[in-house]
Amino acid sequence: MPKGLLGIEELERSEIEQILERAKAFQPQGGQTFGKVNTCTGRMVVNLFFENSTRTRSSFEIAAKRLGAETMSITASGSSVSKGESLVDTLNTLVAMRPSAIVMRHAASGAPHFLARHLTTPIVNAGDGTHEHPTQALLDARTIMDRCGRLDGLRVAIIGDIAHSRVARSNIHLLAKFGVDIVLCGPPALVPRDLARIATGITIEYDLRRAVQGADVIMMLRVQLERMHEPSMQAGEYFRFYGLRPEHVALANPDAIVMHPGPMNRGREISSEVADSQQSMILNQVENGVSVRMAVLERVLLQ
Ligand code: NCD
Repeated sequence: MPKGLLGIEELERSEIEQILERAKAFQPQGGQTFGKVNTCTGRMVVNLFFENSTRTRSSFEIAAKRLGAETMSITASGSSVSKGESLVDTLNTLVAMRPSAIVMRHAASGAPHFLARHLTTPIVNAGDGTHEHPTQALLDARTIMDRCGRLDGLRVAIIGDIAHSRVARSNIHLLAKFGVDIVLCGPPALVPRDLARIATGITIEYDLRRAVQGADVIMMLRVQLERMHEPSMQAGEYFRFYGLRPEHVALANPDAIVMHPGPMNRGREISSEVADSQQSMILNQVENGVSVRMAVLERVLLQ
């Protein structure tokens, strides 16, 4: 059965290295845009998004086009899902039209894994509930390597609503495979202690100042209000304790970088001074989203 990409957990370190290496070859040179390579001419990629997205959906679409593939996007609100069709029936309908791959985002953790067991079309997970967001972790790794030259031995602080973050979970799996020293930090209710058991080298810290001390990378996360019954903290209180400000960045390594997967809430998890600073890699992450998704789609389409 053709393989898609469901999560980082099931990837070998060598597979991750291959994807990151290929993504590097796709990065734009100087002021140019992404090269058009046409390795996937004649293939059709369907983007099926049951949850909102700006960055992920558009960069999958641009990536497919840069590879020479055709692409089509469906959002749940404009599809028959809103008429009560089951997920399996929606997917079987699309598969009957013979796409080469389906890129899918869904609010239920495990939805793409469940579908992958029933379908012959490869599925690329563009985020499933609070579980995984593999291409985000890959583009984050590409961004860190571009700036720091390596992953091994770095100290990465992941800050915020870790409990509801598929970005955090995929990053933890990826960074752990590369021997990164990982610090997880946020309000106690939003930092599940069992994540520290994924690998050795993962620690939990509730104090933001202590978490960022000596960090090479500070990775901020959005508070996922849409996945909470009741927010545990008001925005102002959250910002006071966990909002990243210049005084915190000053405690990290002098050449530390700041990341955020977006969409960011300025004044809640990050201050504008930090988000717009020289150390902020937020737009580099968006740019790398295209080259990494080109590498992932090419791997899926050309097997
Ligand atoms: C993230 C997501 O959807 O999980 N966004 C993204 O893909 N860049 C993070 C978030 O929504 O906070």
